[in-house]
Amino acid sequence: MKATLYINTKDAISPIDDRIYSSFIEHMGRAVYTGIYEPAHPSADQEGFRQDVADLIRPLNVSHIRYPGGNFLSGYDWKDGIGPKNNRPVRPEMAWSALEPNQVGTDEFLSFCEKLQISPMLGVNLGTGTPKDAVELLEYCNSSLPTYWAEKRIENGRKEPYGVKLWCLGNEMDGPWQICAKTAAEYSRIACETAKLMKMLDPDIELVACGSSYRDMPTFGAWEETVLRECYPYIDYLSLHQYYQNMDGDVMSFLCRDEDMADFIDEVAAICQRIKKEKNSDKDIKLSFDEWNVWYHFQKAGRSPEKWIVGRPIEEEEFDFADTLLVGSMLNTLINHSDIVKIACLAQLVNCIAPIMTQEGGKSWTQTIYWPFLYTSRYGRGTALKIKKEAPSYTCRARKDASYLSSCAVLSEEENILSLFLINKSPDEEMVLSLPGIKGELISFVTIDGVPLDAVNTAASQPVVPREVTEKRLDELKLPTSSWNMLRIKL
Ligand code: AHR
Repeated sequence: MKATLYINTKDAISPIDDRIYSSFIEHMGRAVYTGIYEPAHPSADQEGFRQDVADLIRPLNVSHIRYPGGNFLSGYDWKDGIGPKNNRPVRPEMAWSALEPNQVGTDEFLSFCEKLQISPMLGVNLGTGTPKDAVELLEYCNSSLPTYWAEKRIENGRKEPYGVKLWCLGNEMDGPWQICAKTAAEYSRIACETAKLMKMLDPDIELVACGSSYRDMPTFGAWEETVLRECYPYIDYLSLHQYYQNMDGDVMSFLCRDEDMADFIDEVAAICQRIKKEKNSDKDIKLSFDEWNVWYHFQKAGRSPEKWIVGRPIEEEEFDFADTLLVGSMLNTLINHSDIVKIACLAQLVNCIAPIMTQEGGKSWTQTIYWPFLYTSRYGRGTALKIKKEAPSYTCRARKDASYLSSCAVLSEEENILSLFLINKSPDEEMVLSLPGIKGELISFVTIDGVPLDAVNTAASQPVVPREVTEKRLDELKLPTSSWNMLRIKL
């Protein structure tokens, strides 16, 4: 099959915000305990953070890490997680039916971020929490005033304020599963008042309000409108969350979910525009896609680990090669919407729905979805370009006209390099690609291909890995059947 991409390097969508390459660590499963943090592990540093895991995180060039949840956030008292570790309480953690020992809290997490040179995106609890708890956490993190919580931080060993810039106002507050879930009106009131209070203390912060938990929520749309109407002057971003599944094994319907993601973004963007007009405002609310991924394998396997233990091993997704193709395509969708999506978090980073896995006391390794994230994050920086695409399409249960080709184009002006990220979804045919008008030298052609769609990477074997294609001719480009690809062209 044949495809043509018409790209004009002067025709831009938008500069890409580095924060679309963010991730997420929740106190959930083994993300924290025996994930990033395991003091008894041979690689642990003085603070108990596993350096084998840090070494796998670094190459991903993650911009921000969202923390501490997720659903966990809505029952979390941040004051449990500060001060001397042996004085911290163990709590029943209701969101995931586990024990929370509070050995990792705000200071430990922020120090972990600093060591990795990753910025934090902190959440404030708007489930059991109050606006007062939220602004006190902000004071603890960012204030240099001679006040109670700022001085507590100094007492706990941290003199300089952390300067946390990006904050989430709760998590998925529309979801019936959420601790102290709220109606749109209830959430809007508390989010608005919390935002006001937080910006009174620190006007430099940026705030993300909760959108719907996912696109199929019955209140999707109405929820966004209410939140925007109520909170417009005080917030900067509205959140989107979405995970895709392949429960019935209809892989071609699964592989075009990136197009649903695009529709979802367009719908929320249109709501933001509508409310902006209604308010006659000059301000644009941008989008924070702060949870996205594939998530279904663990549930499909029907596993249900023992409850009420520390580091309950839940949602340890074993991603396959089909997931590599969809995750790569979802990254393309984010880039193609870089005019409106300014933040995006792959959910999550370690052990829970994650590209990085660990064994307690043992190995760590990378999953199949690690690779598209690594390459796109490393080379997908600069300006997103418009593409006029001519590519074959297919019909499946999910869509009538799903494209066999997912594509995005990124220009690095500094290096004068055009990077293309391309996924050929056809399991039967390679794709002959032409790029009319693009002249230059193909300096890199990385592909992930040649394995069955259900191939997985484990501690013992890693069949799903990238390879550099040796034949590098711009006039004879072929994308293998079922493949993720990156082309870098020096213009
Ligand atoms: O990322 C896992 C969970 O998915 C988060 O806790 C929640 O926000 C979402 O439902």
